[in-house]
Amino acid sequence: MAGAGISTSAGIPDFRSPGTGLYDNLQKYDLPYPEAIFTLDYLRSKPEAFFTLAKELYPGNFDPTPCHYFIKLLQDKGVLLRHYTQNIDTLERAAGVRDDLLVEAHGSFAQAACIDCSHRHDTEWVKSQIDKDAVPRCESCGGIVKPSIVFFGEDLPRRFGQLVSEDFEKCDLLIVLGTSLTVHPFAGLATMPKPEVPRLLINRDSVGERDILNPDGFDFIRTNRDARYLGSCDDGVWHLARGLGWASDFEALLPE
Ligand code: OAD
Repeated sequence: MAGAGISTSAGIPDFRSPGTGLYDNLQKYDLPYPEAIFTLDYLRSKPEAFFTLAKELYPGNFDPTPCHYFIKLLQDKGVLLRHYTQNIDTLERAAGVRDDLLVEAHGSFAQAACIDCSHRHDTEWVKSQIDKDAVPRCESCGGIVKPSIVFFGEDLPRRFGQLVSEDFEKCDLLIVLGTSLTVHPFAGLATMPKPEVPRLLINRDSVGERDILNPDGFDFIRTNRDARYLGSCDDGVWHLARGLGWASDFEALLPE
């Protein structure tokens, strides 16, 4: 499972890193609070803020990182049960991770619909509107057309709920990459493997640790079950690839 930290080395900011994270750099939009940019209420009142950001983050402007190719390597080795991502940058797809092995839990730019009448709109047209700094408006009712990115308060895609139970029944190793584990229900996935299943966190900060509010969180000190690599995702997956004897296969996947 992964979050924005796997894409920062591609040049895409994460959300919560102090100073560089998106939520510390939204002053120009004059938001009441940072997460407002991903709420329907705010989208209705000031749609320009979200669409300006969407233009910056639009897929196609960035290349996958070594960490994305490592996920592809797990797929090539036949050991990737599923990749759950919170990211909307589609860099997993760009690295070659197959559709059926991917769950884009916070949606993507792959579809777009009116927030009022739900009428579907062509994504190429939506992109052309965003490119020329126009707010895409529904041809049927004039409502705002939003890419299928999950906003706060919206349900996650049906596929997430459909796959979670069966996947975590089978999961025999969970790797958690580049996420602060603060946004639910996604963050709760880290607590879903069976109690004996090992979990590996690769992240700059230690996150998701066991406490009174998170009794099934990581315990790196008292158990052998949980392990962490505190550093960059790219370095972490390199260590893992070398340890697995896959360094040359990994190297072969990386672009020149
Ligand atoms: P966050 O910004 O909350 O967390 C990113 C984590 O990755 C932090 O713990 C960073 O320290 C770490 N990190 C950043 N760069 C790294 C690197 N190169 N190597 C290793 N670690 C690195 O991002 P998410 O957890 O993905 O939701 O945020 C979750 C959700 O909050 C997002 O999907 C988005 C946001 O609101 C929606 O938009 C619905």
